Amino acid sequence: MTRVLVTGAAGFIGSHLVDVLLARGDDVVGIDNFDAFYARSVKEANLEGAMAAPGFEFREIDIVDVGSLVESLTPDTVIVHLAAKAGVRPSLEDPIGYVRANVTGTAALAEAAHRAGVTRLVFGSSSSVYGDDTKAPFSEDAVAIHPVSPYAATKRSGELMLEALAPIWNLRCAALRFFTVIGPRQRPDLAVHKFTRLMLAGEPLTLFGDGTQSRDYTYWEDIVDGVLRAIRWTEDAPVGVEYFNLGDARPVPLTELVDTIAAALGTTPIIEWHPMQPGDVQHTFADLTKSNQVLGYQPTTALAEGVQNFVQWYRDIHDHER
Ligand SMILES: NC(=O)c1ccc[n+]([C@@H]2O[C@H](COP(=O)([O-])OP(=O)(O)OC[C@H]3O[C@@H](n4cnc5c(N)ncnc54)[C@H](O)[C@@H]3O)[C@@H](O)[C@H]2O)c1
Repeated sequence: MTRVLVTGAAGFIGSHLVDVLLARGDDVVGIDNFDAFYARSVKEANLEGAMAAPGFEFREIDIVDVGSLVESLTPDTVIVHLAAKAGVRPSLEDPIGYVRANVTGTAALAEAAHRAGVTRLVFGSSSSVYGDDTKAPFSEDAVAIHPVSPYAATKRSGELMLEALAPIWNLRCAALRFFTVIGPRQRPDLAVHKFTRLMLAGEPLTLFGDGTQSRDYTYWEDIVDGVLRAIRWTEDAPVGVEYFNLGDARPVPLTELVDTIAAALGTTPIIEWHPMQPGDVQHTFADLTKSNQVLGYQPTTALAEGVQNFVQWYRDIHDHER
């Protein structure tokens, strides 16, 4: 049994991770401040199952509050740090808020780990750190110094903060670069969720660019499997930060994503085309060689199945509204 502290526990990925950790018998402390990016009620619903489980303790804490974090940690705790202001486009409107949550927050968490004698940390980073000038498929040893959004800059800064602090404070860190995550509980701002909502309402989808931009969509179960593997890896890991891509290695063009959702809903989308938005990258595509060799990571859920599962969940939670 492992004692795991999950930050961002009420969010999309965090709440799934909490459920899986509890199901395998771990002791879990969940941290979240119910950031206003989307509704608190949605996040509370994400945590409903966990709240009833005996191994779970939830603390409503802002991750910049080092003192409260220290009180939540014991030296044998493994930290999985997923709390962040997520989302590329909103970061253009609020760079300072993103720096506070994603950079100051990561530094605060590392300091809390140090003060509590914790050495194992898994950080949820992002494929966005690769920017627009990394050769595809993206490999972890790319320099990744040309982010195209404040969000991407803060995720890369979080990684670099850990690189600076890990040797001083004996931290053994895995920085996991997630590639667009899909499935039930997906954040309402993300494409699959937004497009599903609009198509069911018979409203037009606003698509940016020419439809050829692509994303390496990854199902949440594959991501959580990668996180569990990384938790295990930190046990014997050297001090420092090691990077791992968690993607699907099958980039999907935007138009194919829309078609897949439309097929799952049995509907025909109305589309309005607009020019490419600042902050968006053209393509994401994970090279999984390293995460496969070192962690044994191998994604298994195809896009169509992930979208189908999302649509089923969406219909279930909105059934009462019809
Ligand atoms: N979803 C994706 O496609 C994706 C892709 C790449 C990386 N990521 C990263 O994965 C992590 C989880 O993403 P998600 O999609 O589940 O997002 P999410 O918004 O659903 O979850 C993040 C959680 O962090 C909490 N939070 C924000 N600021 C906080 C603070 N200061 N203190 C405490 N809690 C705070 C929020 O309330 C939220 O519940 C994030 O770090 C994100 O950057 C996500």
